[in-house]
Amino acid sequence: MPEVHLIQPGGLRVTLDVPVGTSIMQAAVSAGVAGILAECGGSCMCATCHVYAEEAALARLPPVQPAEHEMLACTADERRPNSRLSCQVKMTDDLAGLSFTLPEIQ
Ligand code: FES
Repeated sequence: MPEVHLIQPGGLRVTLDVPVGTSIMQAAVSAGVAGILAECGGSCMCATCHVYAEEAALARLPPVQPAEHEMLACTADERRPNSRLSCQVKMTDDLAGLSFTLPEIQ
């Protein structure tokens, strides 16, 4: 199973095995990772699953769709070029080994 790394603002790194087709948000919530609230349950309606993707791997991620782009304007922490909503990133074999940093606030 491919894995991803979630890095807390303080530097704590959590590695998750994520089944292909499962969103990074769902994997994080299932594992009880602090800092991913996911208040809307993955409907792209809350922006509380905000993460910063590893810059060097941005091209490997699925493109930001219009609904995600719109909701990224509502993140509690700073929106950056590598901001993503983790509910909109589903695991693929190509994403194996990627790192996502959690923002200070959701
Ligand atoms: S869980 Fe609500 S936007 Fe991702």
